[in-house]
Amino acid sequence: MERLDKLLAATGHWSRKEVKDMVRHGRVLADGVPVARPEEKFDPSTVCIQVDGAQIDCTTHVYLLMNKPAGILSATEDRRQKTVLDLLPDHLRKRNLFPAGRLDKDTVGLLLITDDGDLAHKLLSPKKHVDKVYYAKVDGLLDQSDVEALAEGMTLGDGLHCLPASLEPLEGGSACYVTLREGKYHQVKRMLAARGKPVTFLQRRSMGPLELDPVLGPGEWRPLTEEELAALRACTIH
Ligand code: URA
Repeated sequence: MERLDKLLAATGHWSRKEVKDMVRHGRVLADGVPVARPEEKFDPSTVCIQVDGAQIDCTTHVYLLMNKPAGILSATEDRRQKTVLDLLPDHLRKRNLFPAGRLDKDTVGLLLITDDGDLAHKLLSPKKHVDKVYYAKVDGLLDQSDVEALAEGMTLGDGLHCLPASLEPLEGGSACYVTLREGKYHQVKRMLAARGKPVTFLQRRSMGPLELDPVLGPGEWRPLTEEELAALRACTIH
């Protein structure tokens, strides 16, 4: 059994305060009966919750923001090597969690771990235009020709076409931000290697509105806040 305000806030559509207001105005029904208090508890797997007459799916998902460390696979399981799921406590490892958008073993930074396949699919689909921002250090110096090459959309040596991407040189050109809408295998490393500037360090800083939390040390994680989840959902609506 779970509190109604918690169940509805977990959908990412409303804050608990908004749920409280909706309940007060009689806009929320549980099994056809107006809910009297936001603290009332229901079984999310059986109750039929309606808000303004529309049925709401209250099956709760898990959404975690991790600062992926180097040397760990962003896979769900591996016979020999440690995966990001091995960094989670047992009760969470029992759920069908997976990383939404993999990072290479040596890449660090923002990783969303969830069991919400629908949201993950939308976040990763190039059609939804959800930008992923990477900070990269390179061997060599990036210049305007590199900015233009990425902006045009590169075709790599093996014929792989990349969508136009933005490159912002930093630190005199020895580092940069790369912004991608897609996530092809080793994409940032392959694009910059093709420009003759191999990546020596790669960190994902953000995914749409979700940013790497500086409070999280390598390997640390926390649940998304209600605001973060609402913003993520909002950016995949169109
Ligand atoms: N691009 C890469 O090359 N590696 C990653 O891990 C992510 C994006």
